[in-house]
Amino acid sequence: MSVKKMILDVDTGVDDAMAITYAIADPNVELIGVLSSYGNIEANRAAVNALRVLHLLHADQVPVFIGNTDPVDHKYQRIDINAQIHGENGIGDVDLEPATHDFESQNGVDFMIEAAEKYGKDLTIVATGPMTNIAAAIKKNHDVMKQVNNITIMGGALTVPGNVTPVAEANIEQDPVAANEMFTSDLNINMVGLDVTLRTLLTKAETKQWRATNTEAGQKMADIVDYYIDVYADIYPELGGCSLHDPLAVGVAIDPSFVTMLHLNIMVTTEHDAYYARTIADKARLNDPDTNVNVAVNVDKERYLQEFMNLFLNLFNNLNK
Ligand code: RIB
Ligand code: CA
Repeated sequence: MSVKKMILDVDTGVDDAMAITYAIADPNVELIGVLSSYGNIEANRAAVNALRVLHLLHADQVPVFIGNTDPVDHKYQRIDINAQIHGENGIGDVDLEPATHDFESQNGVDFMIEAAEKYGKDLTIVATGPMTNIAAAIKKNHDVMKQVNNITIMGGALTVPGNVTPVAEANIEQDPVAANEMFTSDLNINMVGLDVTLRTLLTKAETKQWRATNTEAGQKMADIVDYYIDVYADIYPELGGCSLHDPLAVGVAIDPSFVTMLHLNIMVTTEHDAYYARTIADKARLNDPDTNVNVAVNVDKERYLQEFMNLFLNLFNNLNK
């Protein structure tokens, strides 16, 4: 497998922190930049969290950019459930040491377009927050964005209910207009939604192994993720663990064989009714043989979890050397 250049577009969040860790841990990835979005927390704090997670992982060389701070057609407002799930500070209320530098002054959307122009087919973009930055980049320079290898997103729900409303998943619900613009463009998208992320779970049996590395990174990541596991036990006791939403998207971007995919044309409903922010097959393009979205509908969760744990444990152990 050749090394993939990757950009992560995150709303750092506990599972976004795990997505960053996965990208740093996988030797098949060169993380060339992190873009911060809003969602779990406002964009500025999401950027601070990304910088701190990178610092914890000895990856200060990865630049962090701020993208758009609001959805296309309304102002961002943090909802209480986000503070409950991810903690007031977005990373399980764990204090991480500040990074040695600040985020970059260049706008994150411009950084993404420049990288798409420079690396084309060698670049993979993974979005684990709202699709606002991706839609903005497509609008600004469609032809350049079309060159990238692939855009893999954590978002949507095709065969299972949503997690914000019965039909809407959080990343899509933050900015349905942007998500619809992205899906109905002709760019190649992998959709890693609740269909697969609700089946891919982590428990304290795994975070205990991180603690046992006796490393600062292993212990802090276990503190952050244990907070999230406890919240999941309260809110979703039927699952028996916390969902690996965002790190699964990174895993699929690297190795799509972790999931089974349906090839479809997808749209997002943007009318303000009960179906607001639903991801659904686009009726107008049902018979179009050219599809641009691969929707993950099943996952080899055992193989993925094994890979996830190998990568995390190797990273933590090697940081100590
Ligand atoms: O619905 C789950 C998604 O919403 C994850 O990306 C989580 O971090 C939040 O952004
Ligand atoms: Ca996220």
